[in-house]
Amino acid sequence: QDSDKWAQVDAWFSEKLAPEEPELNYALANNSEQGLPPHDVSALQGKMLSLFIQMSRAVRVLEIGTLGGYSTIWMAKAVPQHGTVTTIEFSEHHAEVARQNIKNAGLTDRVKLYTGAALDVLPILEAPFDLIFIDADKVNNPHYLEWAIRLSHQGTVIVGDNTVRGGSVLDSESEDPNVKGLREFIQMISEDKRLEATAIQTVGEKGWDGFVMAIVKTM
Ligand code: DHB
Ligand code: MG
Repeated sequence: QDSDKWAQVDAWFSEKLAPEEPELNYALANNSEQGLPPHDVSALQGKMLSLFIQMSRAVRVLEIGTLGGYSTIWMAKAVPQHGTVTTIEFSEHHAEVARQNIKNAGLTDRVKLYTGAALDVLPILEAPFDLIFIDADKVNNPHYLEWAIRLSHQGTVIVGDNTVRGGSVLDSESEDPNVKGLREFIQMISEDKRLEATAIQTVGEKGWDGFVMAIVKTM
């Protein structure tokens, strides 16, 4: 099975390059115990977000879609001491679990967690952000992209998760609202003269998926 091999390679790379850390393990265990879906980024993907933050020298990070805060913790560990990760979660329950996980990681001071619909919270945030990670419901990705650009400065990095979804992104006839949202998201990025972007497919313990990443060239 190819997917077993992908997971085995991920396990080996993780052991070498993103070894287990207690606060990240705690978050995953707590999420699972409290019934959250296992939709977190992988350790290696969390490490990639951490590297993006360091490479772009991001200080103010925005995340749309906290879930249990696993990626939030990766990113909060990557920003400098005075940096912040602002993160938005729709589910009260998920947000409560995320709060526990962030507290356990000692990162409460660096994380601003908002509970509510992202489209209600985004308008009240203070711009600009240096890096924005879009990882919530894919239906609203077109709106999240508009907000992300509005909350950007020249040079802001925008990363979107789950842009392949096992290849379903290719299905122009799909009735799945998530697929429709993703396709429109990619289309908008492709047409937006302010953005320069790429998309990278990934395989690994999370199956076949991918990221889109963009930089805001002009505002
Ligand atoms: C789903 C959402 C995610 O953000 C993810 O990383 C994996 C799956 C989902 O809604 O199915
Ligand atoms: Mg995701």
